[in-house]
Amino acid sequence: MPRGLWTAMARFGEYSTEDVLKMVGDIPTFSTAVSHLLKQLRDPDSGLEEIAATISGDPGLCALVLRMANSPLYRQGYSAPATLSIPRAVHLLGRKTMESAVLSYALKSMVHTSSLAEKLLWEHAVACAVVASEVVRIMGSKNLDTAYVCGLLHDVGKTILCRRFPDAMHSILEDQYNESSEEDSWPSSVSLEKERLGIDHCHVGAVCLNVWQCGEEAAIACAYHHRPKDAAGRSVWPAVIRVADILCHKLEYGPIRRPAMDLKPVEKALRIETSEITALLAAWRKKIQETLRAFSENTAG
Ligand SMILES: [Fe+2]
Ligand SMILES: [Fe+2]
Repeated sequence: MPRGLWTAMARFGEYSTEDVLKMVGDIPTFSTAVSHLLKQLRDPDSGLEEIAATISGDPGLCALVLRMANSPLYRQGYSAPATLSIPRAVHLLGRKTMESAVLSYALKSMVHTSSLAEKLLWEHAVACAVVASEVVRIMGSKNLDTAYVCGLLHDVGKTILCRRFPDAMHSILEDQYNESSEEDSWPSSVSLEKERLGIDHCHVGAVCLNVWQCGEEAAIACAYHHRPKDAAGRSVWPAVIRVADILCHKLEYGPIRRPAMDLKPVEKALRIETSEITALLAAWRKKIQETLRAFSENTAG
């Protein structure tokens, strides 16, 4: 990440990166295979064979890549028969989609899905990834993969806080789940975390995404998705993720559920009618379910 932009935008809390790392202790790391694969996927000089060799060395990644390459979700436009070849699967998916898939795999392996609260966080991450990429499509942008990654990782700080402060964090998530209402009177996750843990998920997530080198866009989206106005003029991603987040509350994916929420603010941001948004939400729900299925238990354990 360019130091200038990060330094300018990282003044969102009272703690430095070192303070945050001290507070959350050992942050989870990606496996060697995942880290190596992400580097290869971002390096235009690394070839298909090298990428396929890294995937072949990790049974979980093999299963993921084959399952995705053969799922209806990613085979749109391809009439070729199902493949069991890793190089062919990588070719079909493409580098950008592979990167999103591998980050999803890495995130899922951090989540304890035996906990309802963490399972809801995982579903919220996938839902927000899908919705964010649909939102930017409506806005006429081609950066669907960046939107997907920003949506996927925007609340990763909550998952990390669940590792460090399991009881306190699970209680915050359960309180939010039980108290979800259409009113904005219930305290936000940011204020509850600050009050009970001394730090919030935006700050923790942004620092970790920076350490993991997940890209400037994801770190900025994570840092500012609860106050996008503070990033206005520098990055569009916090505002995109805010809209996607609200739509995921409406769709009831995650600990915060607001099915009867008024869509006026979204209507304004997307410049489309509420009736149109309602129709889109039904289609997006289907896509979210398909994506969750592509990452089901036996794929990313
Ligand atoms: Fe959040
Ligand atoms: Fe969220």
